[in-house]
Amino acid sequence: MNSTDIKTVFMAGSGFMGSAIAFLIATKTNCTVYLYDIAPDSLKKAEAGIAKMGKSSVEKGFISQEKLDDAVKRVKTVSDLKEAASADLVIEAIAEVLTVKQELFSKLDSICKPETIFASNTSSLPITSIAAATKRAKQVIGMHFFSPAHIMKLLELIPGIDTAPDVVQAVTAFGEQLGKTVITCKDMPGFITTRLGMVLMNEAAFALMEGLSTPEEIDKGISLGYNHPMGPLALADFVGLDICLHAMETIHKGFGDPKYRPCPLIRQLVSAGHLGRKTGKGFFEYGGAN
Ligand SMILES: NC(=O)c1ccc[n+]([C@@H]2O[C@H](COP(=O)([O-])OP(=O)(O)OC[C@H]3O[C@@H](n4cnc5c(N)ncnc54)[C@H](O)[C@@H]3O)[C@@H](O)[C@H]2O)c1
Repeated sequence: MNSTDIKTVFMAGSGFMGSAIAFLIATKTNCTVYLYDIAPDSLKKAEAGIAKMGKSSVEKGFISQEKLDDAVKRVKTVSDLKEAASADLVIEAIAEVLTVKQELFSKLDSICKPETIFASNTSSLPITSIAAATKRAKQVIGMHFFSPAHIMKLLELIPGIDTAPDVVQAVTAFGEQLGKTVITCKDMPGFITTRLGMVLMNEAAFALMEGLSTPEEIDKGISLGYNHPMGPLALADFVGLDICLHAMETIHKGFGDPKYRPCPLIRQLVSAGHLGRKTGKGFFEYGGAN
């Protein structure tokens, strides 16, 4: 399959990432996008989210009202998995649980056309294990977008061990059509971006636990010393400490190497319900949950 053969995209998961990816694809291509979720509330929220992204894109001059209207019409929210039957590309952004993703792809395998490409937006789970739940491992690939997906420039592609080169080529070209800079990475725990990002956040948490300095000073050291827009502790709070811990555990388990062990301070904060910005408290305190 060529990237130009991708005319219908089935976006599974209409949450934070799925809704933004659906918006991105509809505005950057002429594809029809089926946006699917098991939770009706999530689909409603996604429609409102897409309207908000559209309004802001028009206000900032990124897209004309006419083009936006055409794009939004091509996003169809659906709650029946069978709507995936006409898809050329499926992108999955559901819960970050291997068995849940495997179950979905196994069902899609019997619904979709034999040539349909399956992509997962997982941040750290093994693509090869996701592919093993299907009979089309050659056509399964990791397509890791960053948040907010319609704005962030990077797309990390992760072929599994059986992914065919022409599938990598087609998805690379499709990613470029979406305006992304594409990097490709072997299917190893945490890929490039999650692994390196988590190592820095984890080490910052160890530094804090050891009393090396205050959270403010640790973050200033990295943001000003290395020109990072945000310090690692603030970034971990932004991502969510529960999400970070889950990714760290996946990387630790995947390599079986103690150097990736999650910092006990992160475990303690998560067990106390201090998950970062979303609960109003993590490494830092925020004025009310947001
Ligand atoms: N949030 C981020 O910054 C980010 C960045 C990159 C990748 N990711 C990855 O993207 C995926 C989604 O993350 P998110 O932040 O959008 O999560 P989210 O919780 O906002 O959305 C997940 C959606 O999936 C739906 N869902 C769950 N199980 C389902 C199933 N079996 N079938 C259909 N729908 C189902 C939920 O109802 C929800 O609407 C995860 O794999 C995550 O690791 C997230």
